[in-house]
Amino acid sequence: MPATAPRKILVTSALPYANGSLHLGHLLEQVQTDIWVRFQKSRGHDCTYVCADDAHGTAIMLTAEKLGITPQQQIDSIRREHERDSAGFLIGFDNFHTTHSPENRYWCEEIYRRLKDNGHIATRAIIQSFDPEKRLFLADRFIKGTCPRCKTGDQYGDNCEACGATYSPGELIDPVSAISGATPVEKESTHFFFKLPELEEMLRGWLDSGTLQPQVANKLREWTEAGLQEWDISRDAPYFGFEIPGEPDKYFYVWLDAPIGYIASFAHYCERTGHDFDSYWQPGHDTELYHFIGKDIINFHGLFWPAMLHSAGLRTPTAIFAHGFLTVNGTKMSKSRGTFINAGTYLEHLDAEYLRYYFAAKLGATMDDIDLNLEDFVLRVNSDVVGKIVNIASRCAGFLRKGFDNRLTDSCAEAAMVEEFIAAGEDIAQRYEQREFSRAIREIVALADRANQYIDDRKPWALAKRDGMAQEVHDICSVGINLFRVLMTYLKPVLPAMAAKAETFLNTSLDWTALSRPLLAHPLAEFQPLITRIDPRQVEAMVEVSREAATDPNTR
Ligand code: 2FM
Ligand code: ZN
Repeated sequence: MPATAPRKILVTSALPYANGSLHLGHLLEQVQTDIWVRFQKSRGHDCTYVCADDAHGTAIMLTAEKLGITPQQQIDSIRREHERDSAGFLIGFDNFHTTHSPENRYWCEEIYRRLKDNGHIATRAIIQSFDPEKRLFLADRFIKGTCPRCKTGDQYGDNCEACGATYSPGELIDPVSAISGATPVEKESTHFFFKLPELEEMLRGWLDSGTLQPQVANKLREWTEAGLQEWDISRDAPYFGFEIPGEPDKYFYVWLDAPIGYIASFAHYCERTGHDFDSYWQPGHDTELYHFIGKDIINFHGLFWPAMLHSAGLRTPTAIFAHGFLTVNGTKMSKSRGTFINAGTYLEHLDAEYLRYYFAAKLGATMDDIDLNLEDFVLRVNSDVVGKIVNIASRCAGFLRKGFDNRLTDSCAEAAMVEEFIAAGEDIAQRYEQREFSRAIREIVALADRANQYIDDRKPWALAKRDGMAQEVHDICSVGINLFRVLMTYLKPVLPAMAAKAETFLNTSLDWTALSRPLLAHPLAEFQPLITRIDPRQVEAMVEVSREAATDPNTR
């Protein structure tokens, strides 16, 4: 295992924006990616997971200004927080970098130069709203005013929260800059554009290549069929980002340099480890490249990004895996209901593996939204993980310790059943590979039910009280531990910390590649509790703290 040569796989999840804390929505994606990566590693493949903070743009510049710090200080402190929270959720990045890095500057300039040499960059003057006080061009979301339809005041940019109307910011009544309160003026400036329409044929081939999820390809086809537009890739000073070479006061737009951050983070990883960069980014190699993203950013990853890569002579992704949004208790995360939960807040109250398991139990390969129902979360984790999986080990371990010196039997009393559990691994592996985690979990839990049923039927606790039944008890408990070992191997990508404790207890590695026959005449270590039940009060406390944070003016 693997029967063929190890695959060389590079995986990314979307770069979190360095302007705020991670919340459970970010973690849905990072957990999904991490499970897939850990699965590939467990199967013996050479799989590398890179990410970074997305550190540029006007919003970061304004936040830093408000806090009286430099943008560099702002992105440094957020980066520490992001890295701490991802680590808390056991996200095993091989490299976490930042887009504000020398590697990213190099690749932005290089890709831009290649696009320009290919004639894929246009320049022209455009007219935009400008804040005459801050001397800053205003993106739509930085303009406020009265809705032209329902006349509600204080509406942002291009849509009204009261009546749902959409409009151009120019149509707002009495528009003001949300930054300074000044009345915006119209001002002309030269911008740089990526000529996407010239890559239309390439993009059609890409969309029809079958590598995208059907839902994603359909969505993107709608956009291409409506006619591709040139993409504005520059922003005027002041801007926190990289200046465009040879173009003073013109900066690369954050959405140009963010995906290039995938390349930069991997380049940084290669510098650290000696991994071969070129075979992952030059075309014509047998390496694989996957981007895990949310459904809100498929245009950037499914159109602009492959077009840029193609024009720059770099390889395009093997696939893009888009997931849906996270809802909590059936609705959008809400600060006032306490369901807008920051990653750090969750970790102060609950074990990361509870949520990893729950997300795995719900995730499929589509863009359907995933609901975190907090009541179901408690029931599901307590019932499956504690009540079914851990239960197999805990009900056998005591007998093995007391009567059999923590040693498994020399031969397996139920070899056929253990082999069946091992054989089921192929199907479970397919589910993981296809990102059908909920189906993998269903199959694993069904096996756990069988294992528990076996122990229930044989009742080692009753046999242990009868004379002459010691061998029977030893047999049953050794089978139970062997079944537990197989199931924990399948769950290791989802529950890596619990699996590490199980590895200590079982005195063996739980990699998929190590799974071929039962453990025989095998010494175990002392059994330690693997995970405790969720107390619903922990969840209530987390919701309460999140609600309070939402009403605290210092944290809003
Ligand atoms: O949507 C976001 O939060 C972006 N920061 C994601 C960037 S992903 C990639 F393109 F870098
Ligand atoms: Zn309105």
